[in-house]
Parts: sequence; C-alpha cells; structure tokens
Amino acid sequence: MILITGANGQLGHDLQKILHAENLEFIATDYKELDITNIDAVREFVKDKNIDLIINCAAYNNVDKAEEEVEMCYKLNAYAPRDLALVAKEIGAEYITYSTDFVFDGSKKTPYTEEDKVSPLSVYSKAKAEGEKLVLEAYDKSFVIRTSWVFGIANNNFNSATRFVMKSYDMLKVA
Ligand SMILES: NC(=O)c1ccc[n+]([C@@H]2O[C@H](COP(=O)([O-])OP(=O)(O)OC[C@H]3O[C@@H](n4cnc5c(N)ncnc54)[C@H](OP(=O)(O)O)[C@@H]3O)[C@@H](O)[C@H]2O)c1
Repeated sequence: MILITGANGQLGHDLQKILHAENLEFIATDYKELDITNIDAVREFVKDKNIDLIINCAAYNNVDKAEEEVEMCYKLNAYAPRDLALVAKEIGAEYITYSTDFVFDGSKKTPYTEEDKVSPLSVYSKAKAEGEKLVLEAYDKSFVIRTSWVFGIANNNFNSATRFVMKSYDMLKVA
C-alpha cells in the first residue's frame, strides 16, 4: 500500500492518476486527513495499513512569503519530511520526498550533480536543504528528488501563474 501526503497539490493530483492507471493501491491524504506536521497523527494513521511506500507531496511552496513565515516553512519543508522518514523507518516502508534546485545558488556554469555542495539563498531553499539533510540522516531508505518545476493542473500551477503574469503585462501595455 502506498501513502501519498499532500495529495491535492499539483504533484499529488497527477501521481494519483498514474497510480490508478497502474492499478496500484494507494491512500491519498492532504492536510485535512493527515497533517504531516503532527508526527503522532502520522504514526496513528499508518497503523495497520500495511504501508510499504510513503510519497510526500506536501510542502510549503510560497517562496516569497517564506521570508516572513520562517517557522511554518521549516516545519513543512524540513521537520515534517524528517518525521515522515522516521515513521517510514519505524514501519519498514520506503520513502520519497521532493526538494528543489533552489538548494543551489545557480552560480555554477555546468550542470549540477548530486555531489555538488548546496548553497541555498532564501528561507524556502534553506529549509528545503535542511529537510534533505535531516531526511537522509534519519532513514537510509529515503529518496530525495530535486526538481526545478512541477507542471500540473492542480493548485497554483505554471499555467495559472503565467496567465497572471501575461494579464499583468497586458494591463501594463494598456496603461
Ligand atoms: N511547484 C513547483 O514548480 C516546484 C518546484 C520545485 C520543487 N517543488 C517541490 O515539489 C513538491 C510538490 O510540489 P507541488 O507543486 O505539487 O506542491 P503544491 O501544489 O503546493 O501541493 C502541496 C500540497 O500539500 C498540502 N499541504 C500543506 N500543508 C500540509 C500539511 N501540513 N499536511 C499535509 N498536506 C499539506 C497543500 O495544501 P494547501 O494547498 O491547501 O496548502 C497542497 O495540497 C514539493 O515538495 C515542492 O516543494 C515544486
């Protein structure tokens, strides 16, 4: 059984479609069903469900607001991913969580590799980098996937963001 957290987000939404198409059994949760910042609730939730893989799609993704909401950002992007790793370890499940290319400062002139040292600049990217470290220290059956963009139709997505930018651009042109 696969447990998805943050299932209503872009990644979680599309992941459900793929797992469904592959006839794989999964439980989809978002914060209403399972708040990943509450480790006791997570422990209780996974009990007797034979979970063998946890895929964490939940995150704090408001890069700009994170500069003010530092605590919330670290809670969701660093400590909760670590706690999910600990729970996965306790139940013997494998664990996948997502990070970002923002863990690098972008100054390298050739493509980044897994071995490159992180150099995060913002609160969001520092929290993500801390999350990666904590997760990998907590459980050796953890996989951290660094991605630069997620393209999907759910939640705040690339399309709605660019449409907003285009609209603002049009308004500027008119003005
Ligand atoms: N979007 C991108 O382009 C991008 C780029 C680089 C990396 N990533 C990473 O890729 C992963 C997936 O991103 P995404 O774009 O699919 O994210 P997303 O659309 O923002 O989805 C995250 C989901 O997690 C939920 N959530 C928030 N707090 C929670 C909590 N305490 N417990 C459980 N669920 C909670 C959110 O609910 P609410 O929406 O109601 O808050 C939302 O449904 C994340 O780790 C993200 O950092 C994304």
